[in-house]
Amino acid sequence: MTRTVVRGGLVVTAAEEVHADVLVENGRVEALATPGSQQWAAERVIDATGKYVVPGGVDAHTHMEFPFGGTASCDTFETGTKAAAWGGTTTIIDFAVQSKGAALREGLDAWHAKADGRCAIDYAFHMIVSDVNESTLKEMDGLVGEGVTSFKLFMAYPGVFYSDDGQILRAMQRAGDNGGLIMMHAENGIAIDVLVQQALERGQADPRYHGEVRKALLEAEATHRAIKLAQVAGAPLYVVHVSAREAVAELTRARNEGLPVFGETCPQYLFLSTDNLAEPGFEGAKYVCSTPLRPKEHQAALWHGLRSNDLQVVSTDHCPFCFSGQKELGRGDFSKIPNGMPGVEHRMDLLHQAVVDGHLTRRRWIEIACATPARMFGLYPKKGTIAPGSDADLVVYDPHAEQTVSAATHHMNVDYSAYEGRRLTGRVETVLSRGEPVITAREFTGRDGHGAYTPRGTCQYLN
Ligand code: URP
Ligand code: ZN
Ligand code: ZN
Ligand code: ZN
Repeated sequence: MTRTVVRGGLVVTAAEEVHADVLVENGRVEALATPGSQQWAAERVIDATGKYVVPGGVDAHTHMEFPFGGTASCDTFETGTKAAAWGGTTTIIDFAVQSKGAALREGLDAWHAKADGRCAIDYAFHMIVSDVNESTLKEMDGLVGEGVTSFKLFMAYPGVFYSDDGQILRAMQRAGDNGGLIMMHAENGIAIDVLVQQALERGQADPRYHGEVRKALLEAEATHRAIKLAQVAGAPLYVVHVSAREAVAELTRARNEGLPVFGETCPQYLFLSTDNLAEPGFEGAKYVCSTPLRPKEHQAALWHGLRSNDLQVVSTDHCPFCFSGQKELGRGDFSKIPNGMPGVEHRMDLLHQAVVDGHLTRRRWIEIACATPARMFGLYPKKGTIAPGSDADLVVYDPHAEQTVSAATHHMNVDYSAYEGRRLTGRVETVLSRGEPVITAREFTGRDGHGAYTPRGTCQYLN
């Protein structure tokens, strides 16, 4: 039996802030007590005086080793989960992929094989359904039963992951029955592909045209359509990577009608913009992702949505492609730039910066980054909080430390940073994953294979 005491920090959860000592036993939080009030014997004592003690981050949207755009995202489960730990994230939910014509089971088995024994932190899976048919609909029931309780569908990427409205409706009806949660990539991919061809015919091939053809109105239209289909199906809906203010407005309207509709945004939409996509010399390719970065004017609606709870979750959509050799596939044709950005290491810090800047309260930071993603995807209160019985996934966070983000110092296996040179206040100091020190005073002390596959329950945000 290993006991650890984390002493003297300000424990911040979504529910409260309290100065407390935290006792960890056998990988779980055993007790919280007024600082100094208990003489707990422990093998390990971590002094958190002047620091925050927060739940490990839950990043509900990552793509490790994801085959996409003629290549594959360049973080493995090993490198990606280490980088996540460095940034204070102790659970990822990655997307297993069904290949067209294959069974869901094949895709899920393949993802288990990639991750098993390689992760530094705990992990779970969603399933990308790219072929909705009688047999995959049946398979969805089985997956819910074994802890893969959410399914991503795409209204974008015709010919790749795209589902038509009939397929979407059927999958939603099934999820309505089996307790699964449909996650939607809401962009009108059919219309976007027309605009892509027209832009290329006009010779508009630079990265910034990626942002121009993937119009905010086409995100809003798809979001609206997804909401109506979910309403008809009687199923809840979670819209991933929301970037357009018009899409936030659709979510707000639906929620005001009382519909169980949820939205996620990502740090790149909160901190970056089309100005980055327009950087000269093909630099803009670093910022190509879908939904795309928007003009700065959209950011206020995203921050407002996070405060008003019309957006509930911030995930990274971590899907890194190296500039050299991968992003470069799209020189001369923006539609061939692999879509996706690195970010799994910086979510907690960027959102802490939002606390410093006055966009969010401390408790809301923890709610959108830890507690709500855990509840949304059936991991609460094992993950996402600090309470007796919860996994001891704890971060000692120094709110005063200054850092400068750079590819030279980050731990993601990618040759650039989307936040190169950005100064941030606040930094992760020590990270425990189920009581085991993964980061200790800014040293990696974890091990591949410590991270365990974590089956999930159904969405707990509805009740
Ligand atoms: O550009 C992105 N978002 N790449 C990852 C795949 C997806 O649609 O989430
Ligand atoms: Zn204090
Ligand atoms: Zn997507
Ligand atoms: Zn994604």
